[in-house]
Amino acid sequence: MLSKTIEEALNKQIRIEAESSQVYLAMAVWAEVKGLEGISNFMYDQSDEEREHMLKLVKFVNERGGHAQVSELNAPNVTFNSFQEMFEKLLEHEIFVSTSINELVHISLQEKDYATHNFLQWYVAEQIEEEATARTILDKINMIGDDKGGLYLFDRDIQQLTVNSAAQDLSGQA
Ligand SMILES: [Fe+2]
Ligand SMILES: [Fe+2]
Repeated sequence: MLSKTIEEALNKQIRIEAESSQVYLAMAVWAEVKGLEGISNFMYDQSDEEREHMLKLVKFVNERGGHAQVSELNAPNVTFNSFQEMFEKLLEHEIFVSTSINELVHISLQEKDYATHNFLQWYVAEQIEEEATARTILDKINMIGDDKGGLYLFDRDIQQLTVNSAAQDLSGQA
């Protein structure tokens, strides 16, 4: 059984993951309208992943005798000055989520809820990976700057990144 404190903290995280999905959906749409299909597909995949993160929390809360909350969400930023700015926002957002997960881990220890603590380790590992991916992409985008040709090539490369991570997911399941 979840304590009220843990239930509230997990529900807050459910909302953050749902908002993350919306944030990345807005980025996917913006990139698609700009004609950059690779970046757009990458962001659509990120948006789907965040929804999965949310659902995993929803199931956990309900399975442990809590009641998952489906909350109203803050509207995401829907327009950007550049792809550089968009990917800066992506990294900033992942860092914000990591901070929130860390806080949640801290609360689980305070509450001596070791089942929740154990469950959260998946999110800790996931955040390390997502921050690293966001940093790698941002480094590349910073090198490209305003170069249109560079951005075109990057759009093709990031598609490969999406394919590779999908392949990893599949091999992970096998
Ligand atoms: Fe997430
Ligand atoms: Fe994320």
